[in-house]
Amino acid sequence: MELDGETVMAGARDTVASLLLGSVAPDRYRRSAASGHPRAPLCMMGVCFECLVEIDGQTNQQGCLVRVRDGMRIRRQIPEAGRS
Ligand code: FES
Repeated sequence: MELDGETVMAGARDTVASLLLGSVAPDRYRRSAASGHPRAPLCMMGVCFECLVEIDGQTNQQGCLVRVRDGMRIRRQIPEAGRS
């Protein structure tokens, strides 16, 4: 699968959120569209909506509820300059 255009490996039981938490610092997970502040997954069970990511071109997907799969394209919802 791809994360921000880079090939990454995931475990068979990873969700998109768990993959990202293992790949980037929590303050680099995403940015609030309203305030620009860093946000990261909190509940990991579909309640808080802090884990939003773009998956296969669809924005605002709850990363904690989606299992990773081969060929998936994941993009953090964060300005290009802050992706690293
Ligand atoms: S981490 Fe709370 S909804 Fe995904």
